[in-house]
Amino acid sequence: MDIARTPSTADGNPQLADAAPEPKAPPEIRRQDYTPFPWLVPTTRLDFELGLEKTRVTATLEIERNPDAENSPTIRLNGDGLTLVSLSCDDGPCEGHMMDGDDLVVTLDGDRHRLTIVTEIDPSANSQLSGLYASNGMLCTQCEAEGFRRITFFPDRPDVLSVYTVSMRGPAAQFPILLSNGNAVQNGESGDGMRHAEWHDPWPKPSYLFALVAGDLVARKDRFTTMGGREVELAVWVREGDLERTEHAMESLKRAMTWDEETFGREYDLDVYNIVAVSDFNMGAMENKGLNVFNTKYVLADPETATDGDFDAIEGVIAHEYFHNWSGNRVTCRDWFQLSLKEGFTVLRDQLFSQDMHSAPVKRIEDVRVLRSVQFPEDSGPLAHPIRPDSYREISNFYTSTVYNKGAEVIRMMRSMAGEERFRKGTDLYFDRHDGEAATCEDFVVAIEEGAGLDLEQFRLWYSQAGTPKLKVALSHKGETATLALSQEVPPTPGQAEKQPMPIPLRIALFDRENGAHRGEELVVLEKEAATLNFDGFVDPPVLSVNRGFTAPVRIERDVARADLAFLARNDDDPFARYEAMQDLVVGHLLEVADESLGENERKAAREDIGGAMKAILEDDALDDLMRGELMMLPGVSYLMDQVLLADPGRISAEREALKADLGETLGEELRALHSRASAIGYSQDPQAKGARKVKSMALTYLAAANPAQASELAAAQYDAADNMTDRQGALMVLTGLDTAARTDKLLDFYERFRGNPLVIDKWFALQASSLHPQVIRHVEALANHPDFTLRNPNRVRSLYMAFTGTPQGFHAASGEGYRMIADLILALDPINAQTAARFVPALGRWRRMEEGRAALMREQLERIAAASKLSRDTYEQVTRSLG
Ligand code: BES
Ligand code: ZN
Repeated sequence: MDIARTPSTADGNPQLADAAPEPKAPPEIRRQDYTPFPWLVPTTRLDFELGLEKTRVTATLEIERNPDAENSPTIRLNGDGLTLVSLSCDDGPCEGHMMDGDDLVVTLDGDRHRLTIVTEIDPSANSQLSGLYASNGMLCTQCEAEGFRRITFFPDRPDVLSVYTVSMRGPAAQFPILLSNGNAVQNGESGDGMRHAEWHDPWPKPSYLFALVAGDLVARKDRFTTMGGREVELAVWVREGDLERTEHAMESLKRAMTWDEETFGREYDLDVYNIVAVSDFNMGAMENKGLNVFNTKYVLADPETATDGDFDAIEGVIAHEYFHNWSGNRVTCRDWFQLSLKEGFTVLRDQLFSQDMHSAPVKRIEDVRVLRSVQFPEDSGPLAHPIRPDSYREISNFYTSTVYNKGAEVIRMMRSMAGEERFRKGTDLYFDRHDGEAATCEDFVVAIEEGAGLDLEQFRLWYSQAGTPKLKVALSHKGETATLALSQEVPPTPGQAEKQPMPIPLRIALFDRENGAHRGEELVVLEKEAATLNFDGFVDPPVLSVNRGFTAPVRIERDVARADLAFLARNDDDPFARYEAMQDLVVGHLLEVADESLGENERKAAREDIGGAMKAILEDDALDDLMRGELMMLPGVSYLMDQVLLADPGRISAEREALKADLGETLGEELRALHSRASAIGYSQDPQAKGARKVKSMALTYLAAANPAQASELAAAQYDAADNMTDRQGALMVLTGLDTAARTDKLLDFYERFRGNPLVIDKWFALQASSLHPQVIRHVEALANHPDFTLRNPNRVRSLYMAFTGTPQGFHAASGEGYRMIADLILALDPINAQTAARFVPALGRWRRMEEGRAALMREQLERIAAASKLSRDTYEQVTRSLG
């Protein structure tokens, strides 16, 4: 028997029932331990008797022995907090069954059986928002990664694929709309006021892709004809009042469907595509087969309530979930260690889509900014892990920037090395070969190797090694030869002390200082620990532009003259490299001043170089405003803090503000001119108008730093004149950081104006909580007691507290008060919503990169959390790993 029985002590005797329960670490799941499931589940039937407080689930599983697995006398059906109402085998009593922890283990002797399992659940009591839960009077599900086991007993693992038929019945008045995966089979009302529906999904799928929605919803409907001629009915379901704000989501969906046909040759495979927006949701959105469930944040938009950033994010998330239909659903993951197989690849696909829809360089810059401000710190801290992790205790903790964003970068490198066309051959082979299967990252790499004709032997290290490689770059010049010396080092990470060198593809160019041009770029791949490359025909020393387009996710260390960076900031024809030069120029300067190693004259000279480059950016007619806005952006505090050990965040942030003030003053005239030119352009979603709004608010932030009183007036005027959320929020953000009467005024106006629109009220919370205002801690404290604040809505919790963890003077206040507030939040939220609570732990886990005083205060809070009784698996794992 492979069943663990009642827990027993080391001497083999049963444990005494009244023995004090030792707080014990949840077990570690290891990638190497994978074994196929002993049973296949060709079909699953689910019958739901729906009620907000009581839902009865009858699951009927046809099972048969898996010829590719070892025989087992039992089947283990995962459960999580379920009570079994009844169980039958082949329509009669079972031979034997027992509970093992939360799982149900049934003894079976034949090769083929039918299991019928009845469970009862209370969706209204489900505050974890995993499984079946109630939100605003409707019922919905979230099953990835392990939520299905909160609905019924089932082999809740992604390699068990089954064809689902789902029937639902519930009060018609409460649940006029009943949705599930696949195609609608039947739908109607009976005389007793009950509504029923049946859905059938012909595509075998894992349980994490199951979904059900029941509620009073309305839809925007549309149609799409696929390249193969299939007519698909599209619907975006929302609450009554929200219908007018669904147009952008629908248009985005159609664009994504077209793009995936054109770019990856992937076509949709059902007659309907439903998207439902819910306001209580742990994540952004979920790709359930034929029935995506979305956080309202990533569906609802109109110019008055959504910023340009919101519009772009909606388009990206809609596309992302749609793209999963192939990268995730048709080809799914064998186990959760392979998560990056679907997430990394799908993030790359959504990034490429957004690049094609809008300005490609601007999108690339934004994506790199996220990578470097979130993933790089993760990769250099106690929570570092490879994109394909080796072990976990709670899988929800591994939906990380590493798995997602670094995962996307790793596949992007393969694409850079293969070129677009050959990469496409690789993805075609991958999709064809593994359609209908649960695959591994290794399967993906093999398909790209064969299809694209690459040798990825050593490249596989990117899947197994954590840590951001450090790349030393030096350019020397002798005679007519320029020599590029490259060397790499992958830093040690938890559990991985020794690292091997990884292939690093770098797009480079050498510029002629005189004419500002280069002779063509090339892609070089550093295969070993070090290499030198010679370039002939340079009479004068050229200027090196390296990692153009950010071809490799590495940290570059190089001794480069400020003049060379200033040169590239003006002349580089690769937009990313130009942005990078500007960033490096500023980062170099801020780190020097924060280090107090700079004399007054040197500081002045550096600021003049930065000011000169910035002036060129403001005046360069060849730039569009979207790109100009990017180039104007100073490196963020999180990125700066990640650059040096023992950073005092307050100091770095203050220096950054001082530089802003200096630029705002010396370039005041140009910035005011830019602001007024941009203000004259009317609202539309075209790139010119979006660019104008971007530079307008950027200009305002510089002017505000230089002259708060004057900028306060300008911002108040922009706020009053605004006919869209981008302008209004941009102005309010500047005001929120100031101490003027207009601050109070406009914050109040904003609240009154948008009272009753939760997504906009979220912005109101976030603006105040992320402000550089010296009193931000007091503000957050007050907002936590605001009647609109609740721990039960993840969007609201994130807008107040996630925003706050980015404030150098608030979260990182020297007193430790900010750390304590976040620890208090984690402890209060953990019993309500463990997944969301655990997502706040990494902020405290950054202690290694802080000066000693703060590091100690952060650890103190982590230890306080660790000492709490009854921590969730999620928070327990994050806190213990963070302590190291
Ligand atoms: N499959 C995920 C959603 C998910 C993640 C569900 C973790 C349960 C646990 C979905 O495809 C996803 O990745 N969503 C992202 C947005 C996306 C654009 C990166 C999200 O929700 O943040
Ligand atoms: Zn995803």
